[in-house]
Amino acid sequence: MAPRIDIESVKKRKDGLAVIRDIERYAASPDLPQDPEDIALYRWYGIYQQRPKDGYHMLRIKVPNGQLNGNQLRAIGGIANDFGRGLADITTRQNFQYHWIELRHVPEILSRLAGVGISTVGACGDITRNVVGCPVAGIDADEFIDGSILAHELANYYSGNPHFSNLPRKYKISVCGCRLHCAQPDINDVGLYGAEFELDGKLQRGYGLMVGGGLSTKPLFAVDMNTFLLPHEVFEVVKAVTEIFRDSEILRADRSKARLKFLLSDPKIGVGGDRFRAMIEERIGHPLRHATPFRRPLDTETDHLGIHPQKQPGLYYVGVGVTVGRLSGDDLIRLADIADEFSTQSSIRNTNKQNFIISHIPEEKLSQLRGALKAAGFDDMPSVFKRSVVSCTGIEFCNLAITETKELGRRVADELEERFPEASKQLRIHFSGCPNNCGQNAIGDVGLRGGLTKVNGEMVQAFDILLGGTTGENRAFAETVSKKIPATFITDAIANLYRTYLGWCSNGETFNAFVKAHTAEQLDAVVREGMPPKE
Ligand code: HEM
Ligand code: SF4
Repeated sequence: MAPRIDIESVKKRKDGLAVIRDIERYAASPDLPQDPEDIALYRWYGIYQQRPKDGYHMLRIKVPNGQLNGNQLRAIGGIANDFGRGLADITTRQNFQYHWIELRHVPEILSRLAGVGISTVGACGDITRNVVGCPVAGIDADEFIDGSILAHELANYYSGNPHFSNLPRKYKISVCGCRLHCAQPDINDVGLYGAEFELDGKLQRGYGLMVGGGLSTKPLFAVDMNTFLLPHEVFEVVKAVTEIFRDSEILRADRSKARLKFLLSDPKIGVGGDRFRAMIEERIGHPLRHATPFRRPLDTETDHLGIHPQKQPGLYYVGVGVTVGRLSGDDLIRLADIADEFSTQSSIRNTNKQNFIISHIPEEKLSQLRGALKAAGFDDMPSVFKRSVVSCTGIEFCNLAITETKELGRRVADELEERFPEASKQLRIHFSGCPNNCGQNAIGDVGLRGGLTKVNGEMVQAFDILLGGTTGENRAFAETVSKKIPATFITDAIANLYRTYLGWCSNGETFNAFVKAHTAEQLDAVVREGMPPKE
């Protein structure tokens, strides 16, 4: 087994950003043995060794606020075809992730991406990750404020910034100016959300701030700082939060407790929201304006699919479902052509539900656009299952995985669609292939967490079933109701739950209301209806 790397001491010896010189060196001389410490730092450029560590890599590219144009998408698709066996996955942080990348091709890939203004710096590693945002920022008629301006400002400042390239762990910023909190501030290290507040007798628009959210094996929700920030005040405050995180040596002592969320909410080292707010004030040298907590929206988990009018008269956006986020290079190139032809700004936006939106479509082009999407194999009216199933990378490529997830997610969505052809009630299904939660199983209506179980004396892939997760006003992490359900029974288990929910529902209640109205034992019994005995 390869020796375990102590990443804190590696980072002291070499800054993660400096590894680009080594990447170039190894790429130029493929026979040169690669130092395991350098391999650990490749992540700063979005590069992760792919399972089973036999020379192929995953490469994640950052898409700030999920926003792209046709040229960029065409370049991304071309790279997938030329170097990544034609695969590109949309991720829950609005990025794309390639697979099958060889290190010798990385310099050319990075240069092709740079040519269209795209970077991979900080896509992985202990650094500021992609800044996520509301995918309908600037076009949503109902938004408080166009959050994409701030999202890009923050992304530009933190991307490749050597003052913040050695953080204790990954660091995630989310900005949404909409009324739905669709960019999930609750589960980001820094969550800025649109708000209105009366200042000097005048209603002003700006941002509220939450700090210290995150999923993983110990999910914690972000704590509201009870403040209101005008747009020009945000930068200084976020910088203070980032500096506090960077300088908190206590977090570097234990990598399993190194995220900012532990400094806020851990029973042992957590300082709590009030103290953290005071720490921000000490850094910026003046008090934060006090604002009582803003009400979090009830339904944050919109997916923006279908056809919607924009705030710009005569223009529309169209949200398109991509089951489990998996696309091909050819899909992306076709989509780029469609965006060029139908969108006045050639604008595409990835969503955190692993789907995408094409915006700026003139009304008179809508039906033609729908025809073009259909001809290219896209679905702008997918079933409730296909549109909302989210899957992590899983055992196909991930070294930490216990189970396969993408193919299963796709199959489960297909089978549920067949069994419930008329289904209209939302069911968000989130698959993760291990307890790390990359597929956000902790906030799914139904969360699937990969593991193993024995059936007839043989180990098989299985999932714990967690129910009732959501962000927003009723935020709650999904709770485990059933353990070790074999992967082969997952469609049946979810179908049992959905059928029982539909029978129970009398007045438009949500699936989570159904979950709340039952005990874990009752729900577990529903899950297991018809499950063959394990031996
Ligand atoms: C210690 C190991 C890891 C932990 C604790 C971890 C945890 C997480 C968490 C909590 C998310 C949250 C989703 C979000 O904030 O939206 C995430 C995202 C993600 N993770 Fe992991 N992860 C780990 C390793 C990996 C590995 C090895 C892969 C390889 C495939 C991976 C792939 C992803 C992807 C594709 C995303 C989507 C978001 C993005 O674009 O950044 N993760 N991870
Ligand atoms: S949840 Fe586990 S299996 Fe899935 S991508 Fe993350 S680390 Fe890999």
